[in-house]
Amino acid sequence: MLGRPDKEALLKQRSVVFWLYGYSGSGKSTIANAFERALHEKGFLTQILDGDNIRSGLNNNLGFSDEDRAENIRRIAEVAKLYLNSGIVTITSFICPTRELRQLARSVVGEADFVEVYVKASYETCAQRDPKGLYAKAKEGKIANFTGKDSAFEEPEAGDDVLILDTEANSIQQSASTLVQCLKRRQKAD
Ligand code: ADX
Repeated sequence: MLGRPDKEALLKQRSVVFWLYGYSGSGKSTIANAFERALHEKGFLTQILDGDNIRSGLNNNLGFSDEDRAENIRRIAEVAKLYLNSGIVTITSFICPTRELRQLARSVVGEADFVEVYVKASYETCAQRDPKGLYAKAKEGKIANFTGKDSAFEEPEAGDDVLILDTEANSIQQSASTLVQCLKRRQKAD
């Protein structure tokens, strides 16, 4: 049976999962797209998993209760692991609001191949950006279980193994190049 090393050798790359998370509007998808484009130009095969290709398809039976979010994340982590084992650099972009859910994802993917990335912007900043108009709707009470309002969001804690990209302080390009550097370091490591 062909294994991951055979596929990585074919693709001439090492696979890894970059697990981006943060509030809606924090910049996850924009950074994921810029990161993927930069890697594509360098000859890496990549796959993004985000709300557009997961919540509309595979997970279209799930909502935003705690149970559904946990099932959403569990399935995404399982799919990410399949890509990982195909040798593909995988970038996920979901709110993934609690430390417990991040731990679940980490344990499904496997510690050695999981890069936790917190895309950091405050609730207030995301509400000002409000690219999808969701914060305004939530304020009017039109969205149940909205993350950061009536559904919890936990920031990482000191000591967590996490790369933090502060999108209030840094540009998208700066954040993407931080991730490229991280990927490059991992290509060399044993
Ligand atoms: S997660 O909590 O289960 O990780 P996920 O990243 O898949 O969430 O989906 C978040 C996206 O769903 C948001 O960017 C937003 O567009 C949409 N959304 C719809 N309802 C909610 C809600 N109640 N809370 C947060 N996001 C919501």
